[in-house]
Amino acid sequence: MRMVDVIEKKRNGRELTKTDINEMIEQYTAEEIPDYQMSAFAMAIFFQGMTTDERVHLTTAMAASGDQVDLSGIEGVKVDKHSTGGVGDTTTLILAPLAASVGVPVAKMSGRGLGHTGGTIDKLEAIDGFDVELNGDTFNRLVNENKAAVTGQSGNLTPADKKLYGLRDVTATVDSIPLIASSIMSKKLASGADAIVLDVKTGAGAFMKETEEARELARAMVDIGNGAGRHTTAVISDMNQPLGYAVGNALEVKEAIETLKGEGPDDIFELCLTLGSHMVVAAGLTETTEEAEERLREAVRSGSALETMKIFIAGQGGDPSVADNPEKLPSAAYKKEVTAAEDGYVASIAADDIGTAASMLGAGRSTKESTIDLAAGIMLQKKIGDPVQKGEVLAVMHSSTGNTEEAEAKISSSYTIETQQTKPPQLLYDVIH
Ligand code: URA
Ligand code: CA
Repeated sequence: MRMVDVIEKKRNGRELTKTDINEMIEQYTAEEIPDYQMSAFAMAIFFQGMTTDERVHLTTAMAASGDQVDLSGIEGVKVDKHSTGGVGDTTTLILAPLAASVGVPVAKMSGRGLGHTGGTIDKLEAIDGFDVELNGDTFNRLVNENKAAVTGQSGNLTPADKKLYGLRDVTATVDSIPLIASSIMSKKLASGADAIVLDVKTGAGAFMKETEEARELARAMVDIGNGAGRHTTAVISDMNQPLGYAVGNALEVKEAIETLKGEGPDDIFELCLTLGSHMVVAAGLTETTEEAEERLREAVRSGSALETMKIFIAGQGGDPSVADNPEKLPSAAYKKEVTAAEDGYVASIAADDIGTAASMLGAGRSTKESTIDLAAGIMLQKKIGDPVQKGEVLAVMHSSTGNTEEAEAKISSSYTIETQQTKPPQLLYDVIH
């Protein structure tokens, strides 16, 4: 294979073979193909797209470019859940114990990542003693015993994707559906689950602003997953405003605990029931999502979901008593209110800006080296459609430093208040099989 021929073939709109793609990814990973040729290739894809077969080949080749996790020592159909990213998205913290409580084996690798708040791994570190660096044997044993374990990524997963993603970032080729879908799915395939449930976000605070684009991305990922032999389902859900009320690490852990008790925000609970019911079906435990949802509701009502959370926490060395006493979580010295400047109804909340404000308060990382303030963040008090009066509290900032001016301005400007009441956005848009 000569890389220049592969680029030309794609540039001319012809279909690449599995061999073309495998050799290209192997050689790129081995540094035998220079970045300038891979950049030209990415741009050719941007304009010419890829067939479903090409997408499956690219994804499986990238998944095979580094270590692949072997979950075969775990009994049952292992189900992974992945979100394309939102603000205040606490779903993994809830879904791991919730799905586990009805028997789904959840073996989840999660990231820290740069962002508005930490990743799931950072959030779990808000629990005293919680170990997020499990070795493979311990991880498998905990999933077998407790049905749920979450660990940080170790080893060298999908190096080809890491290199290509870095290149796309600086060559204006990130927003290509085949490249996004194969990038995300390569990591899912390498993580070893048998079935994958995707939460694809749409709206102002999401990567995919339009529902149609989100649907296209979801379709692409589901086709790749199924094409690679993993049962894959995608739910398209709203990110026009932050999910739930908490945006921050410890704050989101607390919100997750409340949700598992049946006392959490309605939007998070509904989304978790939907994603969870697809996980239950994918694991082969029920025939229908209706039946699955009923089991999940019962697990919350009976307290078994919360009990599973405690077992999951204790299994990883954490203090399970936080589930009964969330005040044991890190809490911030300063709590400052952001108030409404006028009367009316909340018409929109720029989720991105709320995320940025949380990061300004210390909840997120701005560089890989920065440390996170686990106690910092924002508790929203008002969401879209809620009436507000001038001077009423829109949100409460949690800060360890009291240095809140910048964040306050960001939160204030992220709310728009109008005299006419707006209906809250629809939470769920579609399910793609
Ligand atoms: N997230 C990824 O992992 N890859 C992309 O290409 C885009 C978002
Ligand atoms: Ca939240």
